[in-house]
Amino acid sequence: FLKKVCTLTAAVSAAAMLTAGAVSAKNFKIAVGDGAGSSQEGTGKFFIEALEEKSGGKHTATMFLNGQLGSEQDTVNEAAIGTLDMSLLAINNVTPFSPTVGVFTLPYVILSLEDAEKLTQGPIGQELTENTIRDAGVRILAWTYTGFRRLTNSKKPVTTVADLQDLVIRVPKNEIMIATYKAWGINPTPMAWSETFTGLQTKVVDGQDNPYTTINSMKFYEVQEYVTNLRYIFSIEPLIVSEAVFQDLPEEDQQILIEAGKEATVKSAQYLRDIEAQIKDELVAKGMQIDDPANDEAEFIELATQAVWPMFYDSIGGVEKLNTVLTTIGREPV
Ligand code: MLT
Repeated sequence: FLKKVCTLTAAVSAAAMLTAGAVSAKNFKIAVGDGAGSSQEGTGKFFIEALEEKSGGKHTATMFLNGQLGSEQDTVNEAAIGTLDMSLLAINNVTPFSPTVGVFTLPYVILSLEDAEKLTQGPIGQELTENTIRDAGVRILAWTYTGFRRLTNSKKPVTTVADLQDLVIRVPKNEIMIATYKAWGINPTPMAWSETFTGLQTKVVDGQDNPYTTINSMKFYEVQEYVTNLRYIFSIEPLIVSEAVFQDLPEEDQQILIEAGKEATVKSAQYLRDIEAQIKDELVAKGMQIDDPANDEAEFIELATQAVWPMFYDSIGGVEKLNTVLTTIGREPV
């Protein structure tokens, strides 16, 4: 009997190895929320280059820009069930599916690119990746660094919280961002990213917030005039892969995806360092007026941190999770 079991086991492993070895060349489909010239597209290119090189040309991937494959939040669902391979999207659009990643969206937690790199590439980033696999069926392969989300609007310069009061501002369907604008005294309008340009163009909303590179790549300068240099969220945009798709790959290919993701992450940071100042100048050249918030943003910071942080301690995994994040980037715990 034992001999029979051993023979059977050997046959099964041989069959598994054959199947693994036979995994054909893949062309992964990557949904991308933003357009050409965006940081998301940059990370996608870096990832595809590394993937092709590390797999000796066996695997590649194709990006579908501008939300062609659905809204950013819809792509998380698609990847979860394995009908989409990968998606490049803002972290705030992952939070509804895996609330602990909200710690990266809490206002005024991440205060620089260096903070973002330290957090995403260290143990906290690793833990959040495990959480998204558990909660949402998607694995984070790479991180895009896109810069601070700047407020734009079509009506007037905004430098104080009082200036905001008569504006209709679009936000992603993200509870933390909705709560932040409420703390600043207004009721924002939640709207999918894929509908935002049209919302601004038809004046259903007056404004929105996103980093310079996103404002530029999405051509928001055509429908928005004023930019306020808020720094309440440093935008981080993961490349996620369907865990079902990932688990179907042989271990060697899984490792290639992970390594390609790491390479794309490092290059994304360099890309932002190289282009952000230039993109800001381009926006001015295209007619946008850019203002700093009054008093070093003090009023925005105080209202947002005091009201919003405690509201989300539970969903991010407890106040101690926020304290781990704060101390990792050299700040005082709460
Ligand atoms: C959003 O505002 O929904 C996202 O940040 C957009 C993006 O992915 O750039």
